[in-house]
Amino acid sequence: AEAVPIPEPPGLPLLGNLGEFSQQPTNDLIRLANTYGEIYRLHLGTRPAVFVNTQALVNEVCDEKRFQKSVSSVLRIVREGVHDGLFTAHSDEPNWGRAHRVLVPAFGPLPIRDMFDEMEDIAKQLSLRWARHGPHHPIPVSEDFTRLALDTIALCSMNYRFNSYYQEKMHPFVQAMADFLAECSRRNRRPGFAPNFLYRAANEKFFNDIAIMRDTANAVVAERKQNPSDRKDLLAAMLEGVDPQTGEKLTDASVTDQLITFLIAGHETTAGTLSFAFYNLLKNPTAYRKVQEEVDQVIGREPPKVEHISKLPYISAVLRETLRLSAAIPAFTVEALEDTLIGGKYLVHKGEPITCLLAKSHLDPLVYGEDANEFKPERMLDAEFARLQAAFPNSWKPFGNGKRGCIGRGFALQEATLAVAMLFQNFNFTLDDPNYQLEIVASLTIRPKDFFMRASLRHGMT
Ligand code: HEM
Repeated sequence: AEAVPIPEPPGLPLLGNLGEFSQQPTNDLIRLANTYGEIYRLHLGTRPAVFVNTQALVNEVCDEKRFQKSVSSVLRIVREGVHDGLFTAHSDEPNWGRAHRVLVPAFGPLPIRDMFDEMEDIAKQLSLRWARHGPHHPIPVSEDFTRLALDTIALCSMNYRFNSYYQEKMHPFVQAMADFLAECSRRNRRPGFAPNFLYRAANEKFFNDIAIMRDTANAVVAERKQNPSDRKDLLAAMLEGVDPQTGEKLTDASVTDQLITFLIAGHETTAGTLSFAFYNLLKNPTAYRKVQEEVDQVIGREPPKVEHISKLPYISAVLRETLRLSAAIPAFTVEALEDTLIGGKYLVHKGEPITCLLAKSHLDPLVYGEDANEFKPERMLDAEFARLQAAFPNSWKPFGNGKRGCIGRGFALQEATLAVAMLFQNFNFTLDDPNYQLEIVASLTIRPKDFFMRASLRHGMT
């Protein structure tokens, strides 16, 4: 086949296309996709990077025989903090395989079910907080869901309570992690030739924040080693688990990397998803009513139980549709194992990053039709969802791809389903500003900007 050049927006020497980027890189990538179409190549400084924006091209690069996960862009920088932890490891690094094999069973359906009570504990704290604030209080949606997600993953994975709902100031770990992630995004936009001394204070803080995170995680591990319990959580799985392939256990450093990775990977993502779900429901009264009806019918006014989670198909469809329109991680990146043509005509080079822009491929009109930009949970009900996945493979990829896909998917969906159900059981919600227009803040993940709502109790708390 004849290679066709990949469109490249004009750039500058040394900077390349870095000038395209504002504080909201996701929006910039969408804008470029709208201009250049299914594929384009940027030069980020001197590094080339390809972006693919349709289901067909995303589907092709999801073939693990030809492509693998690429640890490029911001992940290279997060790696400074969590090394070869699951999220930031190269697939051929031994610690990835070891941790993957030890942890996949620990994230399986039965262990996740066992975490239900602790998830409920934290969700109840959130409900109580909103009940106490009363119906006139503007709720900072993203922040409150961030507390939920962070407290939940810390409690379920290592029996650690951040108690975020009871603190005025954020826990030092949480502050360090937030600052670390923000600095990762800033560093990613720095031109490669910028001399380091310009950033001395920022660099010092960056490594200090990493030290705070590692010290906290190390203390949790040391605590557990000194006080062994028969608790079956992710930390126990990592301390006791033996890799069936090599017979080895995880090193202490690897356990620390994974713990921090869970907190990083598991909090903004779930919080963003819940925030967008509430935004979508508040903008779509019919869907809102269907969620409330489902909750009332399936759970009524009893406390939610783990058995209810699989009996809420409409909420499940709401979450899937939210993850389609606003994938909390709006892109993931792979690289070709050999020089190859994609789409039958575009030459990509071995090792060159190829980013799947979900913020665009999830809106592909060939898959989702002319109303692809609209929120319609009905298209994500089980039967329809299965039909779409069969007809258009890899058209819905919010949890990434293949063996490097999200290990926390079941965890996140159980937590989010429970939160939606419990909150709809207890409250009626309204937008704080009826004219609120969605804007996105982007760091590693995307969240709605300045999104506030109000919550009034429907009846006494259940
Ligand atoms: C990987 C999305 C929740 C832990 C990923 C990837 C995506 C993703 C897209 C692949 C990244 C890539 O290819 O570079 C999400 C979303 C979530 C969520 C949308 C919530 C709605 C969680 C939770 C945890 C978690 C709750 C932890 C408990 C991980 C880990 C990986 C990962 C460890 C790396 C897996 C590997 O490469 O072996 N996630 N995630 N995620 N996620 Fe999640």
